[in-house]
Amino acid sequence: MSDFDYIIRKRDEKPAVSVDAVSFDVARTAHAFLSTFEGYAYTPLRKLDALAQAFGVSRVFVKDESHRFGLNAFKVLGSGFAMGKYLARKLGRDISELSFDSLTSEETRAKLGEVTFVTATDGNHGRGVAWMANKLGQKAVVYMPKGSSRERLQNIKKENADAYITELNYDGAVHLAESDAAKRGWVLMQDTAWDGYEEIPTWITQGYLTLSCEIYRQLEQIKEPPPTHIILQAGVGSFASSVLGFFTSLYGNSRPITIIAEPKSAACIYETARADDGKLRFVTGDMNTIMAGLACGEPSTISYRIIDAYADAFVTCGDEVAAEGMRLLGNPMGGDARIVSGESGAMPAGLLREIMRSDSLSPLRGALGFNRDSRILLISTEGDTDRENYRSVVWDGAYPSF
Ligand SMILES: Cc1ncc(COP(=O)(O)O)c(C=O)c1O
Repeated sequence: MSDFDYIIRKRDEKPAVSVDAVSFDVARTAHAFLSTFEGYAYTPLRKLDALAQAFGVSRVFVKDESHRFGLNAFKVLGSGFAMGKYLARKLGRDISELSFDSLTSEETRAKLGEVTFVTATDGNHGRGVAWMANKLGQKAVVYMPKGSSRERLQNIKKENADAYITELNYDGAVHLAESDAAKRGWVLMQDTAWDGYEEIPTWITQGYLTLSCEIYRQLEQIKEPPPTHIILQAGVGSFASSVLGFFTSLYGNSRPITIIAEPKSAACIYETARADDGKLRFVTGDMNTIMAGLACGEPSTISYRIIDAYADAFVTCGDEVAAEGMRLLGNPMGGDARIVSGESGAMPAGLLREIMRSDSLSPLRGALGFNRDSRILLISTEGDTDRENYRSVVWDGAYPSF
């Protein structure tokens, strides 16, 4: 059996912080801009009734981000919006006046001259940056941590980026991107914040709001009330803070109960919450996990503030939980839709199953009120972005332990 560590917070035990940066209005702006992109469409919000019944809850909704712009992950929402904001400012315009067509035109390219964007990535974010730079006719340089998937590297190279697998861990690759940006006059397009580098990561977090905006509208369309519970996977926490901030700005104290979930080997947000002394905790070393997108050791400063103020629980789990989620979403019951969900995308589904059945998680289940009336929202943030590993988990049964 996997063992889990968790922390449960009391609602409002922490002072409130502003969620203006991730409000519904900002979400509308990001959504409006990104919906001008070639190939934009809502990603599906699946209602998995047979799975809900099997878990003993009322609803399970899974937002399937494998359909995002053909890029197999949600990440481009962040870089697309942030690169748009950056270029809008360079052009002296507001993002609301710009569209994908106007930004990618020859005329704009001529006005902007050559811009090089640099970033570090486990794969998904770098692919988004490279895709956007390619569309803009600009350059991208991408650094990946040691051990990164070759398939993910090739997908970035296909977008004409200069991409390399380094000998560094994720956070080391971020520091390399930062120092190269400073040395060479490149624009650092990083999806995490630290003191002195917060504007671009804020824009990235705002771009992610697009998916929450879609969920809100999709639930409204099918006349479903908001979720009671959300399980959000976290690397540096930008994604989780975007979703949590959005729902907090909409519903305040009646926001859904929210769990922040991380791999055991890269639990920097859990460790920071556990220490709870106002200082961020870093995890170092290789951070071995199949959840490559979540293998980050340094929380984003801006995101942790929101997570700290509004999350209800922090959970860490092993790779077998991600593998379990991949299998159950890929092999649906009854009339449920099949969802091809990668390691970082599927972990919350595996965790939900364990919350509903595992003895070691029963105090969490009770304290957070998971029961027959619960309506759970999960976001499958990626598809099979590493197909070899996907098959070894789903076909060969790698990472069993339950
Ligand atoms: C598929 C996937 N899911 C979730 C995340 C987590 O996002 P964040 O690092 O903002 O917490 C990532 C980050 O790269 C990712 O690639």
